[in-house]
Amino acid sequence: MTILNPPEADKNPQILKSLRVLVIGTGGREHTLVWKIARSPRVERIYCPGGNAGIATLADTTPVDEGENFSGLVDFARSEGIGLTVVGPEAPLARGIVDTFQEAGLRIFGPDKKAARIESSKSFCKEIILSASVPTSSAQVFFSIADAMKYLDSQTFPLVIKADGLAAAKGVVITRNRTDAEKIINAFMNDEILGKAGSRLLIEEYLEGEEASLLAFTDGETVLLMDSAQDHKPVYDGDTGPNTGGMGAYSPAPVITPEIRTQCLNEIFIPTITELKKRGIIYKGVLYAGLMITQTGPKVLEFNCRFGDPETQALLPRLKNDLVDVMDAVIDGRLADVELQWRPESAVCIVMASQGYPDKYEKGKVITGLEQIPTTQDAIVFHAGTKCDGAEILTNGGRVLGVTALAETLPNAIDKAYRLVSQIDFENKYYRTDIGQKALKRMKP
Ligand SMILES: Nc1ncnc2c1ncn2[C@@H]1O[C@H](COP(=O)(O)OP(=O)(O)O)[C@@H](O)[C@H]1O
Ligand SMILES: [Mg+2]
Repeated sequence: MTILNPPEADKNPQILKSLRVLVIGTGGREHTLVWKIARSPRVERIYCPGGNAGIATLADTTPVDEGENFSGLVDFARSEGIGLTVVGPEAPLARGIVDTFQEAGLRIFGPDKKAARIESSKSFCKEIILSASVPTSSAQVFFSIADAMKYLDSQTFPLVIKADGLAAAKGVVITRNRTDAEKIINAFMNDEILGKAGSRLLIEEYLEGEEASLLAFTDGETVLLMDSAQDHKPVYDGDTGPNTGGMGAYSPAPVITPEIRTQCLNEIFIPTITELKKRGIIYKGVLYAGLMITQTGPKVLEFNCRFGDPETQALLPRLKNDLVDVMDAVIDGRLADVELQWRPESAVCIVMASQGYPDKYEKGKVITGLEQIPTTQDAIVFHAGTKCDGAEILTNGGRVLGVTALAETLPNAIDKAYRLVSQIDFENKYYRTDIGQKALKRMKP
């Protein structure tokens, strides 16, 4: 067992500050990755092409043309002497950025294209987890409207309808009656509102329970679970309104008890990795399980092939290890030698969004108050959709900031995060006021 990056590493002259890291992606998750990577004593320089105003304080954000099949990024990585590339979002993973970099002899963290199908095809994911006897909802895959419509005859509601492909949080609808279900099937398969992502769909049993996220590092053999986290998908308080990319998160999540955690490792993560291996797929990177904690135990809603956003904003500030060391161990298949260590404090991330998100919203509003919040170990404002305009920072997306606070207890972390939020202003700002409340209810005796 190796404990990575002891605190004295910062002062150890033998650790060469020589590594150049390229981070792909430009949002809140990527600001968090860049922030964490910047804390590694091994890192000399970070590049994050096109990165937001927060990332720009830590990394070179000069845009780089991706080129055909990532050739522009490969050329860039070669010319800048990049020793490690880290991929934030699912889309480049699904398109094979890892395969391309590996073929070019470049080190990259993330699953290859075949492994990323666990997220990029929900039917593939279901096939894997059902073959591995992983607890999940029952589901059927459909390739034609007629078959999907006929299937509704035998079903009771609610029913969950899922587009097979990547749909940026727009591909899952919980339908309460047949009329709604028919509408969605038509919209996905006939009107192609999600393009090719909806040409195949899943109709799935609806699960009752509380949702949580559990992420793990894996090198295809060893699975190291991270601490638990909970996202808040719906846009309004009380989990109402349409689903978003996520409006806030906290970690740890009390709904994941130690027993549930062990169950998740043994009955979900290990069987999934083993099933993939049986099919010749060595999964390396972060594997993220979206879970429903039901009366009969945890069940998988989906797998993602990367860090979650905003769970990462609540998780990585609690991780004590040097993230670069952990990523190296994943790439080299040495994860069995690593032990993850977590700060005992609770972390809360509150997403400040533009009014109207996830639908229409305005950009270009001046953000004030940021300068009053110095970044510390326990208070970090991660940027999502922001950009620099001279000396000003402007809103540049639906989710604008992820305001993260750590404290000894969850209630204190919540209070602290909301105090920070109250110091920040921009026109039409919107945020949920109940981030973390579900955990507080659970913690009450
Ligand atoms: N079987 C299910 N039962 C109940 N709710 C579900 C089910 N599947 C998905 N959901 C809800 O829909 C959301 C999105 O579904 P998910 O499978 O995570 O797809 P994606 O994140 O790709 O949109 C989940 O976070 C959950 O709230
Ligand atoms: Mg999801």
